[in-house]
Amino acid sequence: MDRSGLVVVSNRGPLSFELDPAGQPVATAPGGGLATTLRPLLAGSDATWVACAMSDADRKAADQGLMGVDGISILTVEPDPAVYRMAYDVISNATLWFVHHVLFDLTRRPRFDRRWAGAWDAYRIYNAAFAQRIAPAAREHATVLVQDYHLTLLPRMLAERRPDLKLVHFSHTPFADPSAFTVLPDAVRHELLSGMASASCGFHTQRWRDAFVACCTAEGVEPPPTFVAPLAADPRGLADRATSPACAAAAERLHRLTGDRRVVLRVDRVEPSKNLLRGFWAFDELLDRHPELRGTVVFLALAYGSRQTLPEYLAYGTEVEQAARVVNERWATDDWTPVILEVADDPDRSFAALTSYDVLLVNPIRDGLNLVAKEGPLVNTTDGVVVLSNEAGSVEELGTEALTINPFDVSATADALAGALAMPAEERARRAGALADLVRRRTPDDWLADQVAAAG
Ligand code: G6P
Repeated sequence: MDRSGLVVVSNRGPLSFELDPAGQPVATAPGGGLATTLRPLLAGSDATWVACAMSDADRKAADQGLMGVDGISILTVEPDPAVYRMAYDVISNATLWFVHHVLFDLTRRPRFDRRWAGAWDAYRIYNAAFAQRIAPAAREHATVLVQDYHLTLLPRMLAERRPDLKLVHFSHTPFADPSAFTVLPDAVRHELLSGMASASCGFHTQRWRDAFVACCTAEGVEPPPTFVAPLAADPRGLADRATSPACAAAAERLHRLTGDRRVVLRVDRVEPSKNLLRGFWAFDELLDRHPELRGTVVFLALAYGSRQTLPEYLAYGTEVEQAARVVNERWATDDWTPVILEVADDPDRSFAALTSYDVLLVNPIRDGLNLVAKEGPLVNTTDGVVVLSNEAGSVEELGTEALTINPFDVSATADALAGALAMPAEERARRAGALADLVRRRTPDDWLADQVAAAG
């Protein structure tokens, strides 16, 4: 696919930076999976990636020309830091993320007050800063692929300034049903949907697409053309990684943690939508109801920190650690720790764990897709079983071969874990092979090509 002239736009760019003790920017691993997915897809192409300098360290790195990577040409948007915090923390992460994942505890939140209205203004300014950067830079009739809920107002702003551009907006999250969307203030709902409706709008699943169209209809906004394009795991990249020395070293580190016991694994960000608490409660119930499993299995939870400027995330992290501790206090013996919770981000260790799990638990409350559910079956060499939430987008593709669960039903989750651990070897092998075949039906390139095709 010819990617010259293509413009891809996302909040986070390929590299995120921290300042070292001498005040110099050093690259760190990126946050959520979006940036990690886009980077290999755009590497070495003539595409332009427009992203935000999210912190002082990012701004310094941009000034020093450190943002570009893998031959990708990067344009940075550098909003005022206070504007950015309001747009990213208050609107994108504490409001829109919560609306689409249906995470609000409605007795207390959301609270649409004057402070929030100021944050919505900041979100407009932030979107406008992208429009200002892209409008003079994009080639005539260029295809512009806008990613995610941080940038819902951008398509309309661009269409007004550059009617020649071919615009796509792709949502990596679920989309709220009208009943959940309706918590947003009336004018905001309308502004957000009409902002997106200037583009052709893409989603990982039919379900999120239908919810978006239903919201448009409920709000009297003419739905734009829409498409469904599930993101895929990259078999070649994953295979290279599986044979790397870093993976072998990480596998040894892991073995020292788990010994020869059977492993129930989860790999997630510490993120309220990921449902880590019910995972621990289900494991607790499993050990309670199946005494024969005690001492024979560990729950390895590799859960690294995310969005730590948000009080909701910090509080959730504390609850997660507490829930893991409770299970261990109840069941641990001198030579067995049932739950191993590791919160330090170690991508090699997470990857190595995917190659050798017995059971992979993917139980989000709601998830746009969940790429871990696709990566696991591709790299796992031990015929691992996948226990998958009915609320994860990837269930549309993998639901026939995974053990599916209602993520709110702790007892049913415990049942599924027990069923997975007791599954005969033949059935494990058949399901593992079938899951890998389902995943291989698409590649990340297909996903990008679908977006380009939808631009018309
Ligand atoms: C995950 C979500 C994406 C989101 C990204 C942002 O990957 O699936 O929808 O854009 O996180 O993460 P960040 O760390 O940049 O806030």
